[in-house]
Amino acid sequence: MNYKTHFNGFRCFRCGAEQKADFSGYVCPACGGNLEVVYEWPRVRPVPDWWKEVARRNVFRYAALMPVSRLDLVPPLRVGLTPLVDAPRLGELAGLKNLRIKDDGQNPSASFKDRAGAVALARAREIGASVVCGASTGNAGSSMACLAASVGMPCVIFVPEAAPAAKIAQLLTFGARVLAVKGTYDDAFDLCMDVCAKRGWFNRNTGYNPFTREGKKTVAFEIVDELGHVPDWVAVPVGDGNIISGVWKGFRDLKDAGITDKLPKLLCAQSEASNAIALAFDKVRAAGGTPDWKSVEVAPVQATTVADSISVDIPRDGLAAVRAVWESGGRAVQVPDAEILAAIPEIARHSGVFAEPAAACAWGGLKRAAAAGIVGADEEVVLMCTGNGLKDIASARKAAGEPIPVECNADAAMAATEGVA
Ligand SMILES: Cc1ncc(COP(=O)(O)O)c(C=O)c1O
Ligand SMILES: [Zn+2]
Repeated sequence: MNYKTHFNGFRCFRCGAEQKADFSGYVCPACGGNLEVVYEWPRVRPVPDWWKEVARRNVFRYAALMPVSRLDLVPPLRVGLTPLVDAPRLGELAGLKNLRIKDDGQNPSASFKDRAGAVALARAREIGASVVCGASTGNAGSSMACLAASVGMPCVIFVPEAAPAAKIAQLLTFGARVLAVKGTYDDAFDLCMDVCAKRGWFNRNTGYNPFTREGKKTVAFEIVDELGHVPDWVAVPVGDGNIISGVWKGFRDLKDAGITDKLPKLLCAQSEASNAIALAFDKVRAAGGTPDWKSVEVAPVQATTVADSISVDIPRDGLAAVRAVWESGGRAVQVPDAEILAAIPEIARHSGVFAEPAAACAWGGLKRAAAAGIVGADEEVVLMCTGNGLKDIASARKAAGEPIPVECNADAAMAATEGVA
């Protein structure tokens, strides 16, 4: 079954060099920069509803805006179509009158990464790959393992040995070959690159593989589909920078295709203890004028944050992320780890959404941005929850306190329930 895709090639984020759609590499052959997928959109105006197939119950509903031509090869799981939850009580805490949470913890492997994995896997199958492989702080890998299992594709994942237990459990349960690397995510990434090249496996590594961004962008389509318009702000937790560059790509594609006429501002939320992209963005902003992207560097940091999913020394999609925030007219904020942990129960208790630490960072960042007047009280904001809180229960327990021990008798239970209401 062939699908009419408008996929038309690749363009380098750094030097702008273009490649045709049959290019079989991963990064720019001219400068080594990351590539973005480009399209040639139909010029029909006004735009009919060709961009969404409402009957399809996953991200491939938007296949007309994606680089897939074989819908028979896409994974069968319900990736995407996650809830956009009204969160007025949470918004009130920051003086925001119009806040919603896009709860991507409700994806099949419980993180946003399923969007990326679904498209990467579809691409791998279209080009006849025998194995999919990747390095991950945990979520991208457990997602790839989950999706690969859904179609019977062999999967090899490199994770830092300190990845949270739930993520390792997912990887193993879905049947991936799991290599727990004695080192950081960055070490796992480099090792994976080496082994993938030697074995000729399909490499889904974040930033390096241009197709992950094409999956991540689908969240923008869903937000517009559900709201009926583009919000003022989207708040995104950032590590490698691929999610935020994907969110931006989605809104840009919608505008380029003539489906919308507005773009949102992006709020880049990073941990203070893993802040390479925020530092690079602030430098570009301070320099003023139009940046020369060829000379913008995202300098490595020594990441130590408790939010494992965004603990990144060398952001693998840093330039694309800085460009996204800058082009959107958005801002970068840094959040102390104590505020990230405190955000977990705060979000949960005021919205019913359970976020893992990395995802909670977006709320910490949004609160800071609202307090600083960057995000206005009346502006419409979508807060991305990128990973489910069950992914890291140790951090949630640290922030949420302890249960009340009671003897098994009514007097003790009555005493322990004083003052509830
Ligand atoms: C839950 C969660 N939030 C945020 C991120 C950050 O995404 P990126 O590394 O693309 O910036 C990740 C990436 O692993 C993640 O798993
Ligand atoms: Zn280039």
